[in-house]
Amino acid sequence: MYLDTAATAPVRREVLEAMWPYLAGGEQGVFGNPSSTHETGRRAADALAAARAELAELLGCRPGEVVLTAGGTEADNLAIKGIALASTRGRHVITTALEHEAVAESVGFLSRALGFRSTVLPNTSDGRIDPEALAEALAAAPDTALVSIQHASNEIGTVQPIAELAAVARAAGVPIHTDAVQTAGWLDVRLGGPGGLGGPDGLGVDAISIAGHKFGAPKGVGALVVRAGTPLEPLLHGGGQERGRRSGTENVAGAVALATALRLARDESRDVAAAAAARDALIDGIESRVAGAFLTGSREHRIPNHASFCFPGTAGEAVLLELERRGVTCSSGSACAAGRDEPSPVLLALGIAPEVAQTAVRFTLPHGFTVDDAALVVDRVVDAVAALARR
Ligand SMILES: Cc1ncc(COP(=O)(O)O)c(C=O)c1O
Repeated sequence: MYLDTAATAPVRREVLEAMWPYLAGGEQGVFGNPSSTHETGRRAADALAAARAELAELLGCRPGEVVLTAGGTEADNLAIKGIALASTRGRHVITTALEHEAVAESVGFLSRALGFRSTVLPNTSDGRIDPEALAEALAAAPDTALVSIQHASNEIGTVQPIAELAAVARAAGVPIHTDAVQTAGWLDVRLGGPGGLGGPDGLGVDAISIAGHKFGAPKGVGALVVRAGTPLEPLLHGGGQERGRRSGTENVAGAVALATALRLARDESRDVAAAAAARDALIDGIESRVAGAFLTGSREHRIPNHASFCFPGTAGEAVLLELERRGVTCSSGSACAAGRDEPSPVLLALGIAPEVAQTAVRFTLPHGFTVDDAALVVDRVVDAVAALARR
């Protein structure tokens, strides 16, 4: 059983089938370069425009506000470096200790290479950011160019009060970016907010990162939604595609895949309540049957398919191996940090002791995971931890 969808999920068959004509030649093929002026190119440009329009509808924004990228890392880099470099406000960035490396390292680059200062907001022990703390940080640093706060954590699943945080940033006139890589396909990630086409609903931020491979599109396809009027310095220079914001021949099939996968996920939004029920069965089962095990992150404000724990007294990697031997594939947290010896900075930021943080195990559940599946996984976790205790 594959329970690591936060690392990546399989490409959906409907998505593969939707992409196919935009990769192939022959009668049905729409493989052209959208910048070519001949018929083959024009057909590709039309397909790209249609995919972008569908994405805009799903993301509650205008087509011109969608910048297609090669995945979530690029979207985060473009948001943070692009908005900070274009800002005339100053050289200060506000972020959190809970961010994915794509955000944290982009902020690190701005500090190291360009002399930006940064403020890391405090968080609660379940990983929430208080909008009041953001207001204070903004008041203390009027030269802030950008705020970047994740929509939800890949490691601990906590969902932030992003619309409230966005309102605080907006009141201060500072652009705010959110990494919605883990929530797209599960929660509402429309741009929304004042001036947005999504109406008052949606996140209300100025920029949103998404990555297709977390919800059924291929790896290496993503998007940054950038609210019209937000100054953005491009990182990739060349032919001026994506309205000059991201040069490079557009990945037409990738754009079709992204739109198709996001539409399928939106149409299945009734799954969210069922997913959350199965997740809660898993959490309750593990907490009640494995002595000492505890949930990391927020119980209440949580991605519907995410359950993460520490198993004090075990070695996290050993639990993973024992689970894999029992047919359960999961991870210790961030796929990027997996295999490293240091405890996760995100877990340390929750106040968890380093030796306990090293026992982290994360289960991220696929669409269609049921309460019965949860019962089976709980049995295997109990068994795996008991096997380790006997050693
Ligand atoms: C929260 C978050 N942001 C960004 C990324 C990076 O996305 P990608 O793998 O598409 O580069 C990931 C991937 O794990 C993620 O979980």
